[in-house]
Amino acid sequence: MSADVIDGKAFAANLREKVGGFAAEFEKAVGRKAGLAVVLVGEDPASQVYVRSKGKATIAAGMNSYEHRLDDTASEEELLNLVEKLNSDPNVDGILVQLPLPDHLDEQNVIATIDPDKDVDGFHIINAGRLAVGQDGFVPCTPLGCLMLLQDRLGEDLSGLNAVVIGRSNIVGKPMAQLLTAANATVTIAHSRTKDLPEVVRRADIVVAAVGRSEMVKGDWIKPGATVIDVGINRVPAAEEGKTRLVGDVDYTGASEVAGAITPVPGGVGPMTIAVLLRNTMVSAYRREN
Ligand code: GUN
Repeated sequence: MSADVIDGKAFAANLREKVGGFAAEFEKAVGRKAGLAVVLVGEDPASQVYVRSKGKATIAAGMNSYEHRLDDTASEEELLNLVEKLNSDPNVDGILVQLPLPDHLDEQNVIATIDPDKDVDGFHIINAGRLAVGQDGFVPCTPLGCLMLLQDRLGEDLSGLNAVVIGRSNIVGKPMAQLLTAANATVTIAHSRTKDLPEVVRRADIVVAAVGRSEMVKGDWIKPGATVIDVGINRVPAAEEGKTRLVGDVDYTGASEVAGAITPVPGGVGPMTIAVLLRNTMVSAYRREN
């Protein structure tokens, strides 16, 4: 048996197009474009690539993109002042400070300064709290994108399904577990200290792997027919000398022989993150104008 491939790239393109429709409607009704501000501190190459793609996608969806770049020697005060300026800018509906920040800057402090109602990343403690108690707020983009892919395949209501989330980060694992719980799945959070991880995964109808360890989840850990969502993006040496390739946290070849459906890397979860970011920004724009 060979698993269905969950085409996150196509799903994300569709979502971006829908968001673009709302963005056009918003502009007509309100007389301004929705706007997303992205702040990048320093020269981290991966962050530069992400920020550039976010800016491009924002403009392609018919929104304004405001990019702010600070030197890697910028002081925390400088960064906090910029965030406060964006908080009070009426044209800015969403604020994203690209992580990781240089070591001398306190990420928690910076995130705490973002207006929770412009925190389209969903990283502010207020939004984490809202998610925990089931209030409306912003949900981190990657886990929300994973939930969309799961519900597209399995239906909105995940009652009766066992889900295992591997990884307990604030950005993916914890919010993912909460979203699955809210959708009525029975959820286990597994992590580096979990005993007999293969056995825990074997019970799962839904596996979300978000550990950042290349191909750690093996094919024979997967329950036949399970839906596998691979959040990992790991760069490993390729067969060809000097080249690299991207792999997920799941052994794709092995798992796709057993699973019912699986997200590929690349082209699975990855493209969903930016699409959901645009969606969150549009939600923010409408909330702020109503
Ligand atoms: N760095 C890597 N992914 C993300 C993200 O989704 N949001 C922010 N702010 N930084 C990131």
